Amino acid sequence: MPRIKNIEKKVVGLPDIHCPDHDDQAIDVALELVEYLKPQILFIMGDFMAVESLTRYPPSNWRAVYTRFNEEVAIANPLLDKIDKIAKKLKIKEKYYLEGNHEFRLNSWLYTVGAKLGDMRELSIPYQLKLGSRGWNYVTQKEQPVIIGKACYQHESYINNYHANKTVQETGRNVFYVHTHDHQVMYGKRMPGDRLHKAASWGCLCKLTPSYDKQPLPNRWIHGIGVVEYMDEGCFTDYFLPIIDYKCAFDGWVFHG
Ligand SMILES: [Fe+2]
Repeated sequence: MPRIKNIEKKVVGLPDIHCPDHDDQAIDVALELVEYLKPQILFIMGDFMAVESLTRYPPSNWRAVYTRFNEEVAIANPLLDKIDKIAKKLKIKEKYYLEGNHEFRLNSWLYTVGAKLGDMRELSIPYQLKLGSRGWNYVTQKEQPVIIGKACYQHESYINNYHANKTVQETGRNVFYVHTHDHQVMYGKRMPGDRLHKAASWGCLCKLTPSYDKQPLPNRWIHGIGVVEYMDEGCFTDYFLPIIDYKCAFDGWVFHG
């Protein structure tokens, strides 16, 4: 059979942005790619906000002074405006904002300390970022993964050195995740007779040397975005587009910040 035009869905996932530790230039390249790829479904894969203000780590290991939550929100909203502008231009109707472990810092505070103070719902991420009126579906960690066709989308998976392999072996599903800020891919089967499945981590869009890291150790963090193109019956082809030194060559073009 000759090639046929793919009329099914295309998904793009934007990995850990960690606002206000985000990398503007990397995000610009990522959004140029989104504009070119024209997905129907967009994911913010979690940890869009760092929520540094509620970190459990002591100040000696982290910033000397925490960024206050309201200051983080003041930076996050215009950044989300930028993403929404592209989404609007592309008429993307399906948008998922996955709760990451950093957003969960706020959630757990709201359900413990906050709950004692009264109804603190207006402090939550969906309220502060106006996710409802922006058309984003906020998906808590408990509600994850979001399943589209034969693929699962979630913020976290395993965090050892071989997390993609572990994910393949433990889940027996196709899983796209972030959190580790690196890119790993593994195909595998859990049991004889299983269908081949795949796990992949999709890098990050935050600064590659975090500001809290006073003596940065080498890491495997990489900028990029994840793409999943669906065929019939929920089957798909996926790829990770790495953004190295704020450049990405794809489909005959060079995208740069
Ligand atoms: Fe994370």
